[in-house]
Amino acid sequence: MFGNLSALPADPILGLLAKYRLDENPNKIDLGVGVYKNEAGHTAILDCVKTAEKFRFDNEDTKVYIGPTGSALFNDKMTELVFGEHRVISENRVRTVSTPGGTGALRVAAEFIRSCKPGATIWVSDPTWANHTGLFQASGLTVKTYPYYDFENKNLKFAEMKAAIANVASDDVVLFHACCHNPSGMDLNQQQWQEMVELAKEKGFTPLIDMAYQGFGDGLNEDAYGVRLMADSVDEMILASSCSKNFGLYRERIGACSIIGKDSTVTDIANSVLLSVVRCIYSMPPAHGAAIVETILDSAELTTQWHQELAEMRNRINGNRQLLVDKLSEQGVSRDFNFITEQKGMFSFLGITPEQVQLLQDEFSIYMVGSSRMSIAGIANSNVDYLAKSIAKVL
Ligand code: LMR
Repeated sequence: MFGNLSALPADPILGLLAKYRLDENPNKIDLGVGVYKNEAGHTAILDCVKTAEKFRFDNEDTKVYIGPTGSALFNDKMTELVFGEHRVISENRVRTVSTPGGTGALRVAAEFIRSCKPGATIWVSDPTWANHTGLFQASGLTVKTYPYYDFENKNLKFAEMKAAIANVASDDVVLFHACCHNPSGMDLNQQQWQEMVELAKEKGFTPLIDMAYQGFGDGLNEDAYGVRLMADSVDEMILASSCSKNFGLYRERIGACSIIGKDSTVTDIANSVLLSVVRCIYSMPPAHGAAIVETILDSAELTTQWHQELAEMRNRINGNRQLLVDKLSEQGVSRDFNFITEQKGMFSFLGITPEQVQLLQDEFSIYMVGSSRMSIAGIANSNVDYLAKSIAKVL
């Protein structure tokens, strides 16, 4: 049976990480995978996470099965974190399950959509996270794209996006990125969110919002603006969230999938389907990451500490954006890179050709995705001169 298989290429993001790890050049720079790094290039464990882990180690007294929903405390805390004091909570219209990471949340969402309508069409931004398309197709969904990023003008193609979404059928799903759009760093502003919400109401499609970077853009509440506005206005929506980046819990694989229904009865029915989807994929989620997050969010002191540590990560990334633009100009690069400082979150497209990206990798051991998506967190004071010089050379 295995003889019928043909080898598949490595994942464009994870394959790059493997290559970077093998590179022996001491000057190598990893701008590939979306992982936060400190000034020393290290992805350290947050202090609040260390404290919460210790608490769990000292207090956990069983490893018994947790059930398909995962931890109720984690689910409640995540629902509050994402939606704030929202009426969908007081109206009992939201149900949340813990999932193995944000990708697990998306896959649960995709399988749930398949249960609602096999082969449903889902619209994703062009471009979108490299794994979105494969993941939705693996659930039998039909993936179509709407225009989003204008590579030429380094801006949103908002008019085209709006025109495409205005033609979406009522039983289709539209995927939005809540904040820190991956891979472009271009987010919708408040007015544009409003227009998307109007379209969702008018056309009746189901919004699925992917929120992988809450707190990495402008702040925890600011980054949830679109999610909360959408939840305020539509009867049904789905949200996939992740604790990988904002809690730095990458390998613990913890995220959440929330569904909102038009009333609590409909939502309970939908939730029973969601739980059966979970049971058939991985039965129940891992507990460790959820225990860390719920311990932090259940403690005022640890929550304050987390807010500080999150702000530090956000500010460092924003500082890196300006630093790179300044250093490129110091190198005498005449092309305007100021757009990088206006974009949000972990990524921006540098806007160079795939050949130039390859040259950066082959000649200078600088790793970014072929589309020229850079993970800004990989920039540091110690490598930015080398980076700017190398970019100047390939330009
Ligand atoms: C990324 O886009 O680099 C991250 O979301 C990590 C991943 O799984 O691809």
